[in-house]
Amino acid sequence: MENQVFGVDVGGTGIKAAIVDISEGKLVSEKIKYATPEPKDPPAILATIQRLVKAHDWSGPIACGFPAIIHEGICRSAANIHKDWINYPVEAYLSEHLGTSVKVVNDADAAGLAEMKYGMGKDVSGTVITLTLGTGIGSGMFSDGQLVRNTELGHLRMWGESAELRVSNRARERESLTWHEWGQRLSDYLNHVSFLFTPSLIILGGGVSKHFSEYKSYLDVNCHIVPAAMKNNAGIVGAALALGIKHP
Ligand code: BGC
Repeated sequence: MENQVFGVDVGGTGIKAAIVDISEGKLVSEKIKYATPEPKDPPAILATIQRLVKAHDWSGPIACGFPAIIHEGICRSAANIHKDWINYPVEAYLSEHLGTSVKVVNDADAAGLAEMKYGMGKDVSGTVITLTLGTGIGSGMFSDGQLVRNTELGHLRMWGESAELRVSNRARERESLTWHEWGQRLSDYLNHVSFLFTPSLIILGGGVSKHFSEYKSYLDVNCHIVPAAMKNNAGIVGAALALGIKHP
């Protein structure tokens, strides 16, 4: 039990949770997912997490990946959640109402931590960038394995707006883009990221990582690019891992 943490991943469309064994990075319970409530404001998201905690009959520490900038327990942005979250003390709020210690980290930082420890980033030195292509684009940046938090590369400005508005999986679906069309956009975006940071490796996560073979031929980027190995559990496992790390 002492290696177990309740990992929660708050996403744009679903909130999922499971008990994680952090010594092995494995789920040791069923994973349960509920739809992200509308509006995605503090009371509604808290209520969904409360349901998840109850469904797992959990009473120990909780770690939560959250789709926003999280600095010292405070939420500092709200691209895909309710604006009420801006400057909200999310860590203190969840801890108080869930009656246990809750650690909150950026969702993409969490997914990146899992991918670096157990997935494609394992033992890779230099700069590694993990990108989560979902409702938005989240990023994790690692320098010789150390996380540089809250990088927000989905908000690089391209085509006059945040790149995630054109390159996320939601943009692909909303505009009914073919893999070719979307792959070319992704390629432009990855070239920009690669030019700015010269990473040794870029790891693509999120739902589209499993379709990598459909668009990899359109990626013309001077950098090694691979799909994530951790798939859907990276956010949950990574949030739980962040609990044991001093800074994230
Ligand atoms: C948010 C990030 C988040 C990403 C993925 C972006 O819009 O600004 O904080 O990591 O979406 O959820």
